[in-house]
Amino acid sequence: TSVGERGRRAPRAGMGREDTVRQELGMLHGMPLYKSFIEAWPQVEAFQARPDDLLICTYPKSGTTWLSEILDMIYNDGNVEKCKRDAIFKRVPFLEMSVPDMPGGVELLATMPSPRLVKTHLPVQLLPKSFWEQDCKVIYVARNPKDVVVSYYYFYQMAKIHPDPGTKEEFLQNFMAGKVAYGSWYSHVKDWWEKRKEKRLLYLFYEDMKQDPRREVQKVAQFLGKELPESLVEKIIHHTSFQEMKKNPAANYETLPEWMMDHNLSPFMRKGITGDWKNHFTVAQNERFNRHYKEQMKDSELCFRMEI
Ligand code: A3P
Repeated sequence: TSVGERGRRAPRAGMGREDTVRQELGMLHGMPLYKSFIEAWPQVEAFQARPDDLLICTYPKSGTTWLSEILDMIYNDGNVEKCKRDAIFKRVPFLEMSVPDMPGGVELLATMPSPRLVKTHLPVQLLPKSFWEQDCKVIYVARNPKDVVVSYYYFYQMAKIHPDPGTKEEFLQNFMAGKVAYGSWYSHVKDWWEKRKEKRLLYLFYEDMKQDPRREVQKVAQFLGKELPESLVEKIIHHTSFQEMKKNPAANYETLPEWMMDHNLSPFMRKGITGDWKNHFTVAQNERFNRHYKEQMKDSELCFRMEI
């Protein structure tokens, strides 16, 4: 494109980068969300799922990328080179994602051959209805909220689509009040847990994946109706370990432009452990969090391990 041509291009309708970086969140049906995602919501709501789509669903910072890489490995029979064919956000498109100068999730999915892996962070009530109509399989991963809030705090800093997170104390309060992107963690994990009783849904925990990845990979394979030889499971576990994924440009988000994610502020592949919250919560914050957690979770049989 010559400079002249660029100069003549009509200004794009919709949002530019400056409307996306460090902006306040908007509201989508009562849930805080990035304004550029909200702008593209009509296309997401109208999304046409295919019966063989597999939906990877999580509250942010719960192990989405990890499970995505595991699934892509299973789908490609453990062929590491194939799994490096493209960045994770292209191999497993993020359904509701929409930012300037990048193809959105719906757009990427439209041209993708089946069977597709689809990532979403949507709560049950906002999932496009076509996934239910097509009876798609869903794998949900949940992670204990103390590690989620710490991970989210650092993610807010590095992923510039987020507003400034403020202090840790402020962010903790916002998280507890559901005033962060995707709203209440408590409702998210509980509502998806209930859904598992009526849908084809496998509910996993980050802490179980850390503790016994072999067992969890086998669970996933069984849910997909696949039988994996032990050698393949070994290969998958190795390739999807935190250390391997951290140095893999196809998995670690380092190919995104710096205006979107700044890994100097905090790397996407940050620590990858359970219990890091102990390095961040004060005793008083922990006590307050425990009381609030107990209250929020009293109507659920769900049980989270804050350490392993
Ligand atoms: P931390 O910030 O605690 O390190 P998501 O993919 O849902 O955004 O979640 C990101 C979190 O998962 C980050 O947590 C990241 O380090 C961690 N993670 C990514 N890949 C992982 C892996 N292979 N094993 C363990 N944790 C992983």
